Amino acid sequence: MSKVVIVGVTGSVAAYRAADVCRELMRRGFSVRVCLSRSAEQFVSRALFEALTGEPAVTEVFDEPIRGRMAHIDWAREAECILVCPATANAIALLADGRAEDMFTTLVSASDAPLVIAPAMNPQMFASEANLANLARLRSRGAVVVEPAEGDVACGEQGQGKLASIDAIVDAVAQAAFRSELLDGKHVVITAGPTREAIDPVRYLSNRSSGKMGFALARAALAMGAKVTLVTGPVSIIPPPKAAVIRVETAAEMLEATLAACASADLLVGAAAVADYRAAGASSEKIKKADTISINLVPNADILLAARERYPHLSIIGFAAETHGHQEYALKKLNDKRLQGIVVNDVSRADIGFDADDNEGVLYFSDGRQVELRQDSKFNIARIILEAAAKSCANE
Ligand code: CTP
Repeated sequence: MSKVVIVGVTGSVAAYRAADVCRELMRRGFSVRVCLSRSAEQFVSRALFEALTGEPAVTEVFDEPIRGRMAHIDWAREAECILVCPATANAIALLADGRAEDMFTTLVSASDAPLVIAPAMNPQMFASEANLANLARLRSRGAVVVEPAEGDVACGEQGQGKLASIDAIVDAVAQAAFRSELLDGKHVVITAGPTREAIDPVRYLSNRSSGKMGFALARAALAMGAKVTLVTGPVSIIPPPKAAVIRVETAAEMLEATLAACASADLLVGAAAVADYRAAGASSEKIKKADTISINLVPNADILLAARERYPHLSIIGFAAETHGHQEYALKKLNDKRLQGIVVNDVSRADIGFDADDNEGVLYFSDGRQVELRQDSKFNIARIILEAAAKSCANE
């Protein structure tokens, strides 16, 4: 049976583009049901969406496509994902407040399906503090926001407020609606982000890792049924609500937290960019300016190697961030750290790897298997890595 996506169309000029989004969702195999807000009906009609989807479209809480059945409950239970497209500032505010005013807001409050929000509005409205705070509240509860694009908007102004591309919106729904049972009952520990090694009370050594790959792995592992512990260095992105998050700062703290979490783990994935060195004896006072300064660096312990030594049977997947000699260095790390697999990616490119939304690379397994990871969103790359790792754990 195809997965049900509910599309909430709210009253923005971009409401007409929701028709193309519905068609693309259906082309990708989803069953689509549309719910319009009262103001959306000023722009587009229910008849349009009923003709497109072959399903009744609803607006008021008491609209009952099947007599005697409350659609806001039936639909809420059947939905694999709820998409708000386009989402107005008002719709975003109502959802952030948890209001249940019409069919659409009632449906969202009655459902625990993942929520994807595609805003479209005047750039000033989009950038208003109130709107950004409402989006942040929704994100902190797990909603995915498909950022609007920059450009001319209907009112003649310019800036960020145009509905995102149909592909970006449909990809976000496909990711949010993804479910698999491959990691059911498994405990996956993931390290993410950079570490910070203090030099003095105000300065530190760190790197450009954003944590996006590790957080995408956490979201994908949860969608595959795993219990997830995310050990993360300082990052500015929001973790998936269902992951147990342990925030650390230094490599030593990450080592301790990871080893403790691995006591009950089936799989460890090391996506963190751990600092290889720390300052020997960080100064407790701010170091004053001088002509030259030398800082003595001492090596940090390798977290994956320490986990391998403490838990000889744990499945471990590492990452190798390389600028050259990719395969050779990756295979050396696979071997030296006694890992089950290693993902190598090229960190000299701006469009993938460090801080980018996409990734690309190759996953090498210790048994000689190789999985090509073509350029894709970090979530999709995470999914492929975990699927391959889960199969490899099952074969052992
Ligand atoms: N890693 C780790 N602990 C460290 C250093 C690295 O757990 N102290 C993990 C990373 O999370 C990654 C893998 O080891 O999964 C490889 O990290 P990378 O920085 O590419 O390699 P290094 O082993 O540090 O070697 P080099 O810096 O020389 O490339």
